[in-house]
Amino acid sequence: MPSPRTRSTPSPYSRTRPPNLLRWIAITALVFLILVGLAILIFWLVVRPSSLRYSVDDASIHGFNLTANELNASFNLTLRADNPNHRVGVYYDTFDVEVWISDQRVAFTEVAPFYQGHRNVTTIEVDPIARSVPLLTSVADNIKHDRTAGVVEMEVRVRASIRFKVGLAKTKHYTMTVDCSPVVVHLAQSTRFAKTYCDVDI
Ligand SMILES: *[C@@H]1O[C@H](CO)[C@@H](O)[C@H](O)[C@H]1NC(C)=O
Ligand SMILES: *[C@@H]1O[C@H](CO)[C@@H](O)[C@H](O)[C@H]1NC(C)=O
Ligand SMILES: *[C@@H]1O[C@H](CO)[C@@H](O)[C@H](O)[C@H]1NC(C)=O
Ligand SMILES: *[C@@H]1O[C@H](CO)[C@@H](O)[C@H](O)[C@H]1NC(C)=O
Repeated sequence: MPSPRTRSTPSPYSRTRPPNLLRWIAITALVFLILVGLAILIFWLVVRPSSLRYSVDDASIHGFNLTANELNASFNLTLRADNPNHRVGVYYDTFDVEVWISDQRVAFTEVAPFYQGHRNVTTIEVDPIARSVPLLTSVADNIKHDRTAGVVEMEVRVRASIRFKVGLAKTKHYTMTVDCSPVVVHLAQSTRFAKTYCDVDI
């Protein structure tokens, strides 16, 4: 008398083999995708280039003179560059600071190349000078208008060529642009400067 076992049709186990294979492929693909995603996420968390933070901590203007649409001024700027990353250093191979007023660049200066280590705050003091800069009439009018209110409203821009250092590896060059706006300087020295936070784009 045959046992129930020998009479049994193929077990549910073998019947479901093709779906199992498909599931196995799907799970493998999913795990692979998750691993790739994790790798990208970890790399992003480690490098995270956009987490460089900039602000203009102080700004003053000296020798300000606007006559016949020609500008003389020297801008004293204190920039704060914060690299909060734990494992990433930054090589600044070029570092240009520009002062813009109403879409016209009025002053420019270069900072010598430097390296910023991880978790470092570097203070950069620059004094770009506008010497006999001819202004567009509209720009001169804007400055005169602001000046009656006792202020000069400007924009500080940084353009830098940077490389990241992760461990011993260095990345390719990236262009970093920093935009600090509006930087409002009170011509009356008694009014304290209000720190301006910048947009950083890499
Ligand atoms: C501004 O410059 C003009 C021309 O150089 C000069 O005559 C004038 O005295 C200057 N004004 C101030 C406040 O320095
Ligand atoms: C700006 O400074 C130059 C000399 O550096 C002078 O010749 C010119 O008159 C000045 N212009 C103004 C508007 O002060
Ligand atoms: C402006 O900056 C320069 C150099 O950064 C400094 O020597 C000068 O004393 C500053 N001027 C004022 C009035 O703070
Ligand atoms: C940041 O780096 C600069 C230049 O290497 C150094 O002078 C400064 O002391 C560092 N600051 C901090 C907070 O580590």
